[in-house]
Amino acid sequence: MDATRHAGRTAIVTGAGSGIGRATVLRMVQEGARVVGCDVNAEALAETGRLLAEAGAGADLVVADVTRQEDVERVVEAADGRVDVLANVAGVMDHFLPLGEIDDGTWERVMAINVTGPMRLSRAVLPLMEAQGSGAIVTVASKASLGAGAAGVAYTTSKHAVIGLVKSIAYFYGPKNVRSNAVLPGAVTTGIGSTAAPRVPWAMERAMLAMATMPAPAEADQVATVVSWLACDEAANVNGATVTADGGWATA
Ligand SMILES: NC(=O)c1ccc[n+]([C@@H]2O[C@H](COP(=O)([O-])OP(=O)(O)OC[C@H]3O[C@@H](n4cnc5c(N)ncnc54)[C@H](O)[C@@H]3O)[C@@H](O)[C@H]2O)c1
Repeated sequence: MDATRHAGRTAIVTGAGSGIGRATVLRMVQEGARVVGCDVNAEALAETGRLLAEAGAGADLVVADVTRQEDVERVVEAADGRVDVLANVAGVMDHFLPLGEIDDGTWERVMAINVTGPMRLSRAVLPLMEAQGSGAIVTVASKASLGAGAAGVAYTTSKHAVIGLVKSIAYFYGPKNVRSNAVLPGAVTTGIGSTAAPRVPWAMERAMLAMATMPAPAEADQVATVVSWLACDEAANVNGATVTADGGWATA
């Protein structure tokens, strides 16, 4: 860990109350960033604050729903006019529901959190990054960005879609020195299990065929370290990339 890697920088991290988002907050703070972390779950966010305090550190923690424009604006306001890094981490799964079983509510919720949220946050920080002449956006996508066997239809569609967002930002704003990259984790030990519990046995059986080649689950910080690297200056020439951090699962 390099304590000066993000010194003098301000980073926004979504999904800061659990799993990869929390690990990203802890890591970015230890690497010198001022962090604004947000999460829709106030209790979980408070626990992140407690863990930071235990480590003698702190962050600005904002309870916010990334799907709500007014919440997104509050998060960006908390950064006080400078955002060097945006880590779009918040996300939910879809209980492995295949197309014939998906209800509109689940579809819309998954798309709103996994696609519209990163779009809204990225759009909100863009003017600041353009004015600064620099910025790095890192979006956590998934093994489900590459194929269909790791989740249900809504999650797979959302994680494919978010790659389009990542690449569009990279293409149009790369010349303005705003980089945008995706990290594609495989299985990671986090709290996402609450929306991963399978509901349709035959679909889960089918998914298990793809799961058969899955490496052992990673720790959240093993993904956070990739987020941090993509956001730092060493990755200055990396833009529009989809970086797998899945122990090799994508090779199966
Ligand atoms: N855990 C895995 O195996 C895995 C694998 C591939 C990709 N991912 C991706 O990693 C990212 C982080 O997930 P995780 O595994 O750490 O899960 P997690 O459930 O531990 O953390 C996700 C956090 O996002 C928050 N969140 C959910 N909806 C929100 C909203 N509308 N606004 C703000 N915050 C919201 C939750 O409250 C939670 O604290 C997600 O995008 C997920 O799709 C996870």
